[in-house]
Amino acid sequence: MAFPVSSHHRAAGRLDTSDLDLESGFAEAPLPPPVLRCLQYMHDVEHHTVCYLRDLLVTSAHRDPEITEFLTVWNYEEHWHGEAIGRVLAAHGRPAGPGRVGRLRDGLPLTERLRPIGFALGSAALPELPAVHLVWGAVNEWCTQAGYGQLARRAGHPLLGELLRRIMRQEGRHIAFYSSAGRSRLERSGAARRLTRVALERLWRPVGHGVVPAEETRFVVRYLFGDEGGAEAAARIDRNVARLPGLQGLTLVARAVDRYGRAA
Ligand SMILES: [Fe+2]
Ligand SMILES: [Fe+2]
Repeated sequence: MAFPVSSHHRAAGRLDTSDLDLESGFAEAPLPPPVLRCLQYMHDVEHHTVCYLRDLLVTSAHRDPEITEFLTVWNYEEHWHGEAIGRVLAAHGRPAGPGRVGRLRDGLPLTERLRPIGFALGSAALPELPAVHLVWGAVNEWCTQAGYGQLARRAGHPLLGELLRRIMRQEGRHIAFYSSAGRSRLERSGAARRLTRVALERLWRPVGHGVVPAEETRFVVRYLFGDEGGAEAAARIDRNVARLPGLQGLTLVARAVDRYGRAA
């Protein structure tokens, strides 16, 4: 695998917010409701990482120690992203943290609870499934990082901007792992290239789909990617995806922006 997992470990860890006053730093200039709505979405998705991890570990991916080493750190880092965003929400009187996360999980549809069974059976039938998960992870991390960048720009708030820049740096390392590990799987196997292409083309949806209410996904996609800068960011992600072996010509993100970004 081209990506050195150990170098990720050395740089990894809990997001450092010790010098950011997330409790009272918004008192003078609070964030507007659309920005808080996006942050709620991001809080919920970051805290859902452990459930995505559950789905991955029932597949053959758990047999690859480089993948599991990365996932261990990844899950820890994403938790602290959610925690930091939760502090911003709490500073604005919005629900955050375990209470909010617990309510979200209680309300998940049955399909979400059955997902590990589907993944375990799918993994037994399709040995190339980890390639799909790795490339899927890369696409989601690219979208997440771009979404934070767009939110920082739209909010124009120095404190939020600094927090999101720190989160984006860690998302960049997640991108490096997923894209590199995904690429090496695609390079090795034509079956992996075919399966990944079909799965992404038919099944990929924006991060948070199926977890957060669909109306929230539509709002966030529209708010963050509905303008010219958002369209450029989506096209950049699609170009990154298209550079992976066997995925030339895919336009997943531009298509999703078109579909989800339309007014409901
Ligand atoms: Fe994150
Ligand atoms: Fe991430």
